[in-house]
Amino acid sequence: MTEQNPLAEGAESDRRAPPCVLVVFGASGDLTTRKLMPALAELADGRRLPAAFCVVGVARTEMADEDFQARMLADMDKPSAAWESLVSGFRYVAGDYSHPDTFAALKRVLAEVHAARGTGGNVVYYLATPPQVFGEVAAALAAEGMSKPEDDGSFVRIVIEKPYGRDLGSARELDAQMHASFDESQIYRIDHYLGKETVQNVLALRFANAIFEPIWNRRYVDHVQITVAESLGVGHRGSFYEGAGALRDIVQNHVLQVLALTLMEPPATIDAQGIRDEKVKALRAVDILSVDEVGNEVVRGQYDRGWVEGGEVPAYREEEGVAADSRTETYMAMRMQVDNWRWAGVPFYVRTGKRLPKRYTEVAMEFHDVPHLPFGRKDTRGLGPNALVLRIQPDEGITLRFGAKVPGQAFRVRSTSMDFSYGAAFMEETPEAYERLLLDAMVGDPTLFIRTDEVEQAWRIVDPILEAFADPSFPVAHYQAGTWGPREADRLLDRDGRRWRSP
Ligand code: NDP
Ligand code: BG6
Repeated sequence: MTEQNPLAEGAESDRRAPPCVLVVFGASGDLTTRKLMPALAELADGRRLPAAFCVVGVARTEMADEDFQARMLADMDKPSAAWESLVSGFRYVAGDYSHPDTFAALKRVLAEVHAARGTGGNVVYYLATPPQVFGEVAAALAAEGMSKPEDDGSFVRIVIEKPYGRDLGSARELDAQMHASFDESQIYRIDHYLGKETVQNVLALRFANAIFEPIWNRRYVDHVQITVAESLGVGHRGSFYEGAGALRDIVQNHVLQVLALTLMEPPATIDAQGIRDEKVKALRAVDILSVDEVGNEVVRGQYDRGWVEGGEVPAYREEEGVAADSRTETYMAMRMQVDNWRWAGVPFYVRTGKRLPKRYTEVAMEFHDVPHLPFGRKDTRGLGPNALVLRIQPDEGITLRFGAKVPGQAFRVRSTSMDFSYGAAFMEETPEAYERLLLDAMVGDPTLFIRTDEVEQAWRIVDPILEAFADPSFPVAHYQAGTWGPREADRLLDRDGRRWRSP
């Protein structure tokens, strides 16, 4: 099987999935209908799926093949002809994951599909179930002899959704369970942020240009701010979120992945090993707080009632599935330090929250002031620090802020900016994150998936914070929904003489 590098030149036009079966566990769930199926439909419409392709859904809900097919059509806004045709071949297996019968039935269906559709024994399992059954499903697949490929060049891979563990210990336990059934090379741990075009563009910006990398270090950078803001609340995922909070839900994975891409050294090659080696090295350089330091470096917040995007919204504690006295954080801000030559002394401020004024993700780098400003103070009142802002979503692009002369007789200088917009610059359609990652898993490219050592290092960074949060006396700062978080988060920067950027 030839492997393609999704980030490599020339790979775009011929990127097609090989013949294979995608087995989705948790096929009756939210992720399957909201993300996986629309992504597959896009791949089908873009002719990136071969004729020898089939989906087999697995879940406990009783359904016949036809019911599953009808559901996968009904949940799609305007199903295309390509999607309708693809769905008509979908199969479904109903069963409990604790019953060997479920897997024996799946094995029979897979054999039928391989024989009828020419899928060559190639299988990608996708665990879209609640995380507590990840290990059980992997073990049951191994017990049925379904976790390893035949010795005929076929492949068997497994994609695992987040969260990957609840802390370092449980992530290691899960890894032990997964490795008992699958080789690391078969395991694809997903973080959908890595599937976002603009997250990958951090690599392009840094390593395809001569002008940014020389200033991408402590000599020029004063500090970095990473914001992952959401206007949504927890919706119907309250009971899941209660056990997660922003730290496990966003910081441990999405934020640390974006941070790693920002921090990392240039890899020799843009491939799975090159990128992941450098990311894990970068994460290892992140200073791990002691439990005692957490109170000084981290702000934990939760939203109260308020107004977001013109509508009144309930407090987190009033959401369905949430305890009336919940202390779960829906907001987190923290100051991080990185102990290496490139970044020593440069603070990285990160914040994420639900029910903030808008959905907005960016990495903003602010630069040191010039050593000497040869203009009068009043002539430079409107001049702020130079900044480079990578806008990840929703208005994808890059902004460079710099000083320019204000037209007129006086020599006044103020900040202005140059904006690059993805949408305006490129005609190509941007694939959705899941579309990209599903195709990568089928093609067999793990570059944009998380390796086991990265997961562990991310938990090492997060674990002391979890421990500090577990103390009932750790403060939870409340903020009104529709504001940019609690005042305590502003103080985190105030004391360093800095301010959060206002998106
Ligand atoms: P759901 O809660 O919708 O669960 C998916 C399916 O799993 C359900 O339809 C149900 O099907 C089955 N299920 C539920 N409880 C159990 C159980 N105790 N044992 C076995 N099966 C069970 O989850 P989502 O679809 O929202 O999420 C799936 C995975 O994806 C999770 O790991 C989640 O963390 C992750 N994820 C989800 C996102 C989302 O936006 N939804 C975003 C990022 C990650 P049945 O009862 O028919 O078996
Ligand atoms: C998921 C989290 O991983 O990411 C959700 O579980 C969050 O809570 C979502 O809403 C945000 O993703 P995106 O792509 O909308 O930024």
